[in-house]
Amino acid sequence: MNPSAFNSQKVVVISGAGLSAPSGLPTFRDNNGYWKQYRFEDVASPRAWASQPGVVLEFYNERRTKAASVEPNAGHRAIAELEDRFEVVVVTQNVDDLHERAGSTRVIHLHGELNKARSTSDESLVYELGSRPIALGDLCEKGSQLRPHIVWFGEEVKAIDLAANEVASAGRVLVVGTSLKVYPAAGLCSCAHEYATKFYVDLDAKRQVPDFTVIQGSADVILPDLLKTWTR
Ligand code: APR
Repeated sequence: MNPSAFNSQKVVVISGAGLSAPSGLPTFRDNNGYWKQYRFEDVASPRAWASQPGVVLEFYNERRTKAASVEPNAGHRAIAELEDRFEVVVVTQNVDDLHERAGSTRVIHLHGELNKARSTSDESLVYELGSRPIALGDLCEKGSQLRPHIVWFGEEVKAIDLAANEVASAGRVLVVGTSLKVYPAAGLCSCAHEYATKFYVDLDAKRQVPDFTVIQGSADVILPDLLKTWTR
């Protein structure tokens, strides 16, 4: 990781599924989360893709349709509005486009994007889907099956070094709506500069994150008030 210069005017937000929960999208590990309905090995792994691609496509087609049917919430909007005052980089584990639809302009999707498909033979071939489904037989320009542009369990998180450098130089780091259970994303907290202001906002009051000020509450309620104090 390059030693990036500390920038007091830079904010990095690290978000997880809990930020999109108030918009109506399920999380993964809460009671009604995806991993309570599915085994991730069956729908979000290279092995599942090899053995039952139709099941995998259906899992993401349903999530893509659902994500297109909801709106960004006040938490997403508060993060987007920070751009009026700070250089803001959003590092999200979420694959929905709610940050972008709320107005955030620099979003790093660590785990991919629901609204994109990519070739199974040439990963540089990425296609915009909007909310359209991917079907077996949908092929890239080279004749290979299209797959969701998602980082599955066991696949490389290619954007992690870029994200770590952004976090390391931020004067303020805000972590919101993530259980911090999945690496390497969860390891980004430890990349924060010692002088950075660090907040962790989550519904779960029990969560403690070393060096972070923990604020318990719902992202769509906490963030507007918290971030307003940053822009006064
Ligand atoms: N406001 C704030 N936090 C919330 C809210 C809310 N309204 N609702 C839920 N949360 C919190 C939960 O307390 C929990 O800490 O959001 C977190 C959701 O955790 P997970 O379901 O584990 O989601 P996430 O951390 O984003 O998962 C990381 O795991 O399965 C993979 O690729 C998947 O990107 C995902 C990664």
